[in-house]
Amino acid sequence: MDKNLLTKLAVESKKASYSPYSNFKVGAALLTKDGKIFTGANIENAAYTPSNCAERTAVFKAVSEGYREFEAIAIAGGFSDETADYCYPCGVCRQVLNEFVNADEFIVLIAKTAEDFKEYKLSQLLPFGFGPNDLR
Ligand code: THU
Repeated sequence: MDKNLLTKLAVESKKASYSPYSNFKVGAALLTKDGKIFTGANIENAAYTPSNCAERTAVFKAVSEGYREFEAIAIAGGFSDETADYCYPCGVCRQVLNEFVNADEFIVLIAKTAEDFKEYKLSQLLPFGFGPNDLR
């Protein structure tokens, strides 16, 4: 897995952010198990609640194209294209990711820049998560 490519694409995807209300730009890059990458950006709405996070944009793009098996996601967010702090996924996005992955294996890269990132397993960010197995 090319982690630097994933973080680079997440940082680049911030450019597509539609965030006129918060001015907070988030980009994500989701790697499928067969090596395809889906990017996403946050998309806000004047009615606020219909807004969608970058991570969910990437997941929904992938799933709606027939991809359901994922290896990793990179996330980058901040108030400008250039500088950023580490941006962690919201609880809703952690839950959406948990629907499709093994949380002990799925890698989450939190990128400040393409080179400067922290690495987690989803289970570290969503311990004791509720998922599909609980309904089997
Ligand atoms: N946001 C994301 O896209 N991903 C996150 O992980 C955190 C928050 C977006 C939602 C909203 O458009 C803006 O950032 C401020 O909350």
